[in-house]
Amino acid sequence: MLNSFNFAEQMRNTALFPGSFDPFTLGHLAVATRALGIFEHILIGVGLNTDKRGLLSPEARVELIRRTFEDEPRVDVSLYDGLTGDFCRARGIKHIVRGIRNVADFEYEHAMEMANTQIYPEITTVAVFTPAEYIPVSSRLVREIITMGGDASAFLPHNINITNYL
Ligand code: PNS
Repeated sequence: MLNSFNFAEQMRNTALFPGSFDPFTLGHLAVATRALGIFEHILIGVGLNTDKRGLLSPEARVELIRRTFEDEPRVDVSLYDGLTGDFCRARGIKHIVRGIRNVADFEYEHAMEMANTQIYPEITTVAVFTPAEYIPVSSRLVREIITMGGDASAFLPHNINITNYL
């Protein structure tokens, strides 16, 4: 059992990687892999957005990500709703990882970081640059390909057959 010191230590070494992940792409995988070079544990949080009807159900997104990391014990996956900062606080997590591909991502992420820092000063957002080869990859692009009957497997983790999750 963890004593309180070990718990605090473990939470210092844990980061939440939040997102909609509809679906989780090779770009997300590259960011998570880089984050595993910084943090001991990564919790991938699939944020529920009741406004958006997605391609995959929230449960299918979680399942796809679990499958992707089935051989990586340092990654856990969880669904959450509400504010990302509240989810971190409830779990004692002090770091949020977000991927940045371009200037548009930067503007969005910086605004979110500033708001989160105002409300949750104990939480630090760590921006991880997406490796160059994955900059064109996005969940939106993958959704478009799939809904028009195309093959998006080049953009998805290699052990994933997306038709099993639709
Ligand atoms: O990468 P995505 O798909 O845009 O993920 C967005 C997500 C889920 C991480 C973001 O929308 C989020 O944090 N939603 C929860 C509400 C929240 O905390 N918003 C930020 C307030 S400062």
